[in-house]
Amino acid sequence: MISCWSAKGGSGTTVVAVALAMILGRDCERGSVLVDLEGDVPTVCGVPQPDGPGITDWLVASPSVGAAAIERLEHPVATGVRLIPCGRRSVAGEQRVPLCAEHLARDERPIVVDVGRVAWTGEPDDLVRRQFVEAATTSLLVTRPCFISLRRALAIPMRPTGVVLIEESGRALGRTDVEDVLGVPVVAAIDVDASVARAVDAGLFASRLPAPFGRALRDVA
Ligand SMILES: Nc1ncnc2c1ncn2[C@@H]1O[C@H](COP(=O)(O)OP(=O)(O)OP(=O)(O)O)[C@@H](O)[C@H]1O
Ligand SMILES: [Mg+2]
Repeated sequence: MISCWSAKGGSGTTVVAVALAMILGRDCERGSVLVDLEGDVPTVCGVPQPDGPGITDWLVASPSVGAAAIERLEHPVATGVRLIPCGRRSVAGEQRVPLCAEHLARDERPIVVDVGRVAWTGEPDDLVRRQFVEAATTSLLVTRPCFISLRRALAIPMRPTGVVLIEESGRALGRTDVEDVLGVPVVAAIDVDASVARAVDAGLFASRLPAPFGRALRDVA
């Protein structure tokens, strides 16, 4: 299970999570599963929000709704990728995250979770996100080389296993600064490129993954 998260909004987390799920979905015979804790995955994939319940509904459901029900939440969202959508509720129900994580860990398919922004507030929403980061075998902080973003990440007493750096030319901070400050390796670096934003805006990102994403994220996947 790979969890993608950020310390600051708009870092590129959802785009990276979708790209990883697509690479894994292509490489693994049984495809991959993408869990959306934020609600933006369908938009990035250029598909409508699925009708019906999602992971946020399962998390606050009664104990009689067991882990097997998680599989019934899945929808195809891109080639080789099945989505467990965010659902209709606000993010809560941290008591049920371990059961969910245990169930996902037993799945033969690789799982990617778009955790969204972790703020370490202690609110139910934040406790759920944190646990999805802590339960992951690989947790990836997606960040730009941005002072505000790095300060926020440093204030969180939890380190990712790796950083996906969304590089912007002209920034004062670079890869080495990010690694020095966070004490975590940059495992992939992706340039900010207007063609990526255009593909996302047009709903075309998931129909043809831009080549730089494939190259940068292949080793992570
Ligand atoms: N490598 C890139 N090059 C250019 N634009 C990008 C790149 N990655 C993401 N973007 C754009 O940046 C914006 C934010 O991306 P995304 O939604 O993935 O970030 P996020 O961290 O998930 O944001 P949020 O905190 O709202 O969940 C989007 O408009 C997206 O198209
Ligand atoms: Mg997002």
